[in-house]
Amino acid sequence: MEPDKAFDRIFLQRRSVRAYEDRPIPPEIRDLVLSAALRAPTAGNLCLYTILEIEDPELKSRLSETCDHQSFIARAPWVLVFLADWARLQGYYRHHRVPEWCEERGEPFLRPQESDLMLAACDALIAAQSAASAAEALGLGTCYIGDILENGELHRELLGLPPYAFPITMLCLGWPTDQQRARPQPPRLPRDLVVHRDRYRSYGPADYDRVYAGEGWPEPRTDPPGDNPGRSLYARKFAAAYSLEMRRSVKALLEEWS
Ligand SMILES: Cc1cc2nc3c(=O)[nH]c(=O)nc-3n(C[C@H](O)[C@H](O)[C@H](O)COP(=O)(O)O)c2cc1C
Repeated sequence: MEPDKAFDRIFLQRRSVRAYEDRPIPPEIRDLVLSAALRAPTAGNLCLYTILEIEDPELKSRLSETCDHQSFIARAPWVLVFLADWARLQGYYRHHRVPEWCEERGEPFLRPQESDLMLAACDALIAAQSAASAAEALGLGTCYIGDILENGELHRELLGLPPYAFPITMLCLGWPTDQQRARPQPPRLPRDLVVHRDRYRSYGPADYDRVYAGEGWPEPRTDPPGDNPGRSLYARKFAAAYSLEMRRSVKALLEEWS
């Protein structure tokens, strides 16, 4: 089936955009993007997320440093942080004196745990992707910033986060420059490696030779400290300083959830 033009543009031709025209995003457009985000499915219709609009240029600039020194963040006309948020629901329960009620009944007042965070993280990411797709449908470009998971304690302070509000992702939005519009799309893995049927299919050596390889992929790097593509990738990504910091930061933020 031939997809229509809008489907093709929004889903099949999309790419991340990291350079933006110096042109504001009108309030009507922001409003539509946020409306789409809030219409996203949410577990139990509880809306277990909060969206922080980062308006303060100084804060944006600070975040561009704390999120692995990515200067384009400071130049993005619109920056949104999506939080998994159980703070609101905890406050609501306290407002309705649920802890006292639990005590009267001789039951503990339950706190959110890891599973609750997972559910709220799903909510936050689904809302973020609805915002991203809505923005792209309206001609904006977007880029996720996973490095908001780094420096958790500092981000908590900078963003004034209460307990049980966990930053899941950040989204930069702006009008794409011509250069960004013309940038080739990065490739993806072959579909059969990603889409399995009924049961997880394990991979063999021939499969691994097709991972991150082939048309459109950059030449596999074999530079030190790795001497083959897998070792090089491991060193550049998995064991890189930003990755170690992300692991440390998330572990620290997770403490209150266990
Ligand atoms: C969870 C997540 C975190 C990401 N974090 C960053 C980031 O910190 N900086 C960045 O430039 N791009 C980031 N990206 C964008 C990816 O690098 C991008 O999606 C990937 O390279 C594929 O390119 P494409 O989106 O243009 O197809 C992130 C994407 C996702 C989904």
